[in-house]
Amino acid sequence: MAFAHLDGRHFCTLLICTTFVSVPSNAEIKVNPPEDFEIVDPGYLGYLSLQWQPPLFLDNFKDCPIEYELKYRNIGSKYWKTVITKNLHYKDGFDLNKGVEAKIHTLVPAQCTNGLEVRSSWSEATYWTSPRGNEDTKVREMDCVYYNWQHLLCSWKPGVSAHLVTNYQLFYWFEGLKHAIQCPDYIKANGKNTGCRFPHLESSDYKDFYICVNGSSESHPIQPSYFIFQLQNIVKPLPPEYLSLTVENSEEVNLRWSMPKGPIPAKCFIYEIEFTEDDTTWVTTTVENEIQITRTSNESKKLCFLVRSKINMYCSDDGLWSEWSDEQCWKGDKWKETVVFFLIPFAFISLFILVITCLLLYNQRALLKTIFQAKKEVFSHQETFF
Ligand SMILES: *[C@@H]1O[C@H](CO)[C@@H](O)[C@H](O)[C@H]1NC(C)=O
Ligand SMILES: *[C@@H]1O[C@H](CO)[C@@H](O)[C@H](O)[C@H]1NC(C)=O
Repeated sequence: MAFAHLDGRHFCTLLICTTFVSVPSNAEIKVNPPEDFEIVDPGYLGYLSLQWQPPLFLDNFKDCPIEYELKYRNIGSKYWKTVITKNLHYKDGFDLNKGVEAKIHTLVPAQCTNGLEVRSSWSEATYWTSPRGNEDTKVREMDCVYYNWQHLLCSWKPGVSAHLVTNYQLFYWFEGLKHAIQCPDYIKANGKNTGCRFPHLESSDYKDFYICVNGSSESHPIQPSYFIFQLQNIVKPLPPEYLSLTVENSEEVNLRWSMPKGPIPAKCFIYEIEFTEDDTTWVTTTVENEIQITRTSNESKKLCFLVRSKINMYCSDDGLWSEWSDEQCWKGDKWKETVVFFLIPFAFISLFILVITCLLLYNQRALLKTIFQAKKEVFSHQETFF
């Protein structure tokens, strides 16, 4: 009620007063930034640890829950990631092709001061992997595919200016491994490593998978390349099998297929169907392994379809289409089937009978001829005797 009677000028005075009262008291409260802030690389190919020690002279805030506000990013990226924590370390994945920068300050929550949160100045740190070789020595066209959610395969091409004697090596790591592991089974071309067949990878999905391809030669240094991806996003399934096409009535056609064999659950597939009716082809998708299609014309002579599969959005953010399945077709009307099933065999049988008859007739003629000749001979013998 009292406020209702305040005019604009009074209200302003009130605000200015409160500001004046609080500023001097807060200015007295100061806190130091965290000590020994550093970015530590444990050798996990991009998974780094940011760590620090409590600020000096914390005694003023004995019963106060001190917090830290941490900001970090790859050098060159637009946005900082921000984390508020009470711990003295924080871990996250970074792209080691670039540098890393981070800053941290101490936060004293409002309840320990006179109502305003107090922050220290920033402590800063940066990290670069030791640079080696020039840009042109890095591998090119790195390509990794997780076939049927079972077999991971990566391949690459040598850098443009990579020296002839240099060879590449691949290391990988994901959360759960004690240390980075070198590829146990390289794909080779002319004695050089150009790819890696990974061993069976247990509990490696839905987490960052880190790869580093560097060089073995010290005399001709190679710049390492770093890659981060999640395995479920690079799955290429097998094509669907056992396609069947049933013409239900004059309008509807039922298409069915069985999902590819392997460890991928049925609920993770999306299928793309390419359906051809005479000369028109169109494409549709479904998450079931069958689909009902309406023909555009009940006169169509030829219906065909093929299917390919991919991991759907419920199981991954991305994926690769499988190869197309074999094509399955339905051709023409009933009378054509009649031709195939009755007329052709009938024609064959008729032809067979005809041939047999001819042969028999031919043989019979030959027989008659020999009999006739024999008779003639006997007759001529008789003639000579007489
Ligand atoms: C390649 O990277 C691995 C893993 O980080 C490291 O152990 C190895 O020493 C590196 N090799 C070269 C030649 O730098
Ligand atoms: C095709 O469809 C038309 C109209 O829907 C119908 O009148 C006709 O009988 C159908 N023909 C055949 C061969 O089913």
